[in-house]
Amino acid sequence: MKKKIYILNGPNLNLLGEREPEIYGRSSLKDVEKSLNKIAKTNSLEIVFEQSNHEGELIELIQTASKESKGIIINPAGYTHTSIAIYDALLSSKLPIIEVHLSNIYKRENFRHISYVSKAADGIISGLGVEGYIFALKALISKI
Ligand code: DQA
Repeated sequence: MKKKIYILNGPNLNLLGEREPEIYGRSSLKDVEKSLNKIAKTNSLEIVFEQSNHEGELIELIQTASKESKGIIINPAGYTHTSIAIYDALLSSKLPIIEVHLSNIYKRENFRHISYVSKAADGIISGLGVEGYIFALKALISKI
């Protein structure tokens, strides 16, 4: 069976490409998924790529990932700065975790400078746009 990696995207990332393109770029989430699938294919990996606007749904996905996958890449979007519940779910997964942000959260409003998720992450990529997901996947591949 192929090794699985979960790639999870939080609220409003379904609007990627249309939403504040000067900050988040013009690629859609579908474009990101396609590029990641290409890398997965050449590495004989399976990717589960999900987006949800709901905190509970993201937590359930993390719990499923912990049972059936080798690692998680997560852009928790707005929940990065608010969700202790997502942090707890990531901690209990015991998987390698990479946190991704399209924008550099440290260059933006003060409330974005705090990430609850970072404390559960092995690595963080912030500010490199959609390429950040590609770097995260490559890093996770070398870890698993
Ligand atoms: C984001 C940064 C968050 O602060 C914001 O709420 C998002 C996207 C990013 O990818 O840059 O929705 O996670």
